[in-house]
Amino acid sequence: MTPDIKPLVAGNWKMNGQRDQLDQLALMSKGADAELSQKLDIVVCPPATLLYVATALAEDTGLKVGAQDCHANASGAHTGDVSAEMIADCLAEYCIVGHSERRTDHEESNADILAKTQACWRAGLKAIVCIGETEAEYDAGQAETVLSSQLAGSLPEGATDQNTIVAYEPVWAIGTGKTPSPEDIKAIHEFLRNELIERLHGPGERMKILYGGSVKPSNAAEILMIENVDGALVGGASLKAEDLLSICEVYRKV
Ligand code: 13P
Repeated sequence: MTPDIKPLVAGNWKMNGQRDQLDQLALMSKGADAELSQKLDIVVCPPATLLYVATALAEDTGLKVGAQDCHANASGAHTGDVSAEMIADCLAEYCIVGHSERRTDHEESNADILAKTQACWRAGLKAIVCIGETEAEYDAGQAETVLSSQLAGSLPEGATDQNTIVAYEPVWAIGTGKTPSPEDIKAIHEFLRNELIERLHGPGERMKILYGGSVKPSNAAEILMIENVDGALVGGASLKAEDLLSICEVYRKV
């Protein structure tokens, strides 16, 4: 946690979830009660097919809704793509950009992600910008260099704590059950905080830095209490309301 930063837990459903999963979303919005949502922002990012119905289910509750990606353009001949404006039109408030699965599966570059982040702002969405090193880079001691260049390349001028959230997701920790040690997470988040302050000054002090990669109810308390960890981006454990809410509950007592 960081003093004066309201934490955020976001669930990234990835390419999972059909209509029969909406009961989980309804349970999440019930669990995001007034007391809990005062302590943290709770966001669920279902696939685009469920976005509009998800915002309707979450309306007037403590649960907020986000998308998982957007195109950089507002509209046009881009078959199969979804623009930030379309996401905003579904009444979602957040959009993940630069997830390592997009960087790998769709060969997205830092420049692509920078353009998508600007698209989010243009549409009034908060961008959750993901960065993270691979296992080989981690083993070679290159994590900080990689993260620094991803931040420099994918975070546009004008990033503030109001329009952008950074998510640190070591690629080797995603869906593997492996996590860095608490000491490693602390060191990397402190490094990222300093990079953000150097670059953005005041807003860099206040920008949320999430940790993502194998966060689950059993390790959430330890990870979320680390200095400069301002919440989590949760994959697998966000599909069940019980698990996502149990991660969020860590903040109820603090
Ligand atoms: P897991 O929590 O399943 O490791 O996924 C993390 C992630 O990629 C969230 O964006």
